[in-house]
Amino acid sequence: MRMYDVITAKKRGLELTDDQIAYVVKGFTAGEIPDYQMSALLMAICLKGLNMRETTTLTLEMAKSGDMLDLSAIRGIKADKHSTGGVGDKTTLIVAPIVASLGIPVAKMSGRGLGHTGGTIDKLESIPGFRTTIPADEFIRNVNEMKLAVAGQSANLAPADKKMYALRDVTATVDNISLIASSIMSKKLASGANVIVLDVKTGSGAFMKTFEDSAALAEAMVTIGNNCGRRTYAIITDMNQVLGRYVGNWLEVREAIDILKGQGDEELRLVSITLASYMILGCGVAASLDEARTLAENAITSGAAFAKFREFVERQSGDVRFIDDPASMTAADFEVPVYAPCDGFISEINAEEVGMASLLLGGGREKKEDSVDPLVGLRVDLKVGDKVKAGQLLGVLYADDEARIEAAKERFAGAFRYTGESVNAVPPIYAYVDENGVHKV
Ligand code: URA
Repeated sequence: MRMYDVITAKKRGLELTDDQIAYVVKGFTAGEIPDYQMSALLMAICLKGLNMRETTTLTLEMAKSGDMLDLSAIRGIKADKHSTGGVGDKTTLIVAPIVASLGIPVAKMSGRGLGHTGGTIDKLESIPGFRTTIPADEFIRNVNEMKLAVAGQSANLAPADKKMYALRDVTATVDNISLIASSIMSKKLASGANVIVLDVKTGSGAFMKTFEDSAALAEAMVTIGNNCGRRTYAIITDMNQVLGRYVGNWLEVREAIDILKGQGDEELRLVSITLASYMILGCGVAASLDEARTLAENAITSGAAFAKFREFVERQSGDVRFIDDPASMTAADFEVPVYAPCDGFISEINAEEVGMASLLLGGGREKKEDSVDPLVGLRVDLKVGDKVKAGQLLGVLYADDEARIEAAKERFAGAFRYTGESVNAVPPIYAYVDENGVHKV
């Protein structure tokens, strides 16, 4: 087989065979196919597309390019969730203990934040002592004994994706639904869970800015997952504003604790309960989504979900004194209020800009090697649709470095848009996606 012929076939709009796709992924991962030929193929894919069979094969080959996590030593049907990346998205910290408290094993590989979006591993590491690198046998033992473990992604998870993503990033070939879906799903398939629930974000702070693109991505990923024998669902959720009220690693852990204690932001609660419900349904612990939702809600009201979170933190060596009493954590040095410049209604809170404000305070990283300050971040006090008066509090920045405050303040204030006309609130959930397609709510 020759790479030249594969590129030619796709350039002409022909379907690639499974053998051709396997040849490309293996050859590229092994360094036998050079970047320039892979770039040409990626561009041909962007221009001519891949059908669902080609996309599924590509995903499976990428998943098989490195370690396939063997979770067979874990008893029961394993559930996983994945978010396409948002600002203020701390749902894993809420959903995982809810589901685990119902006896469903959650063996989760999570990532760090990059750019304006946060990552679960950074959030967990804001808890003093918390270990996100744990040996495989301890990971499996924890899931078997207490149903929950979260660790950083192994370096050898879907290496084909890592190489392809780096190339796509610099060859203008990121924004193709098949390539994004296969990239995300290759890592999910390699992570070994039987049930996968995807949170596909849509809006200004999301990778996919329009509902149509988000729905197409969600549908592709659900089809790939189901084609590969994993029960897969997606929900399409809003990222036209921050999810919840807080952005910043420790601040988000605190907010997750609030939800687990039955308090906190209603939209964050709703998205978390919905994700948990699909995981519960997918694992067969409930016969209907309504029943699953009731189980998830009861896990919060009974205190079981919070108790599971505390147990999980303790198991991974986190200092539970801060879980029992979050207010005892040292606060960031500066609290900076930010005020509205005019009267009106909030028409937009650009989540990407809010995420960037937190990043400028030191709460996120621009480059993979950057370190993060666990205590900094911000609070957003208003939502889209709220009526506002000039001088009213928009939110608060939490900063440790005075020199970073001005730029972050400007970015944060600039994220808000105002209008004289009243504006509808944005719903937190737009649609759900199962094997039968996209269902708007
Ligand atoms: N996230 C991924 O993991 N891959 C993509 O291609 C896009 C977003």
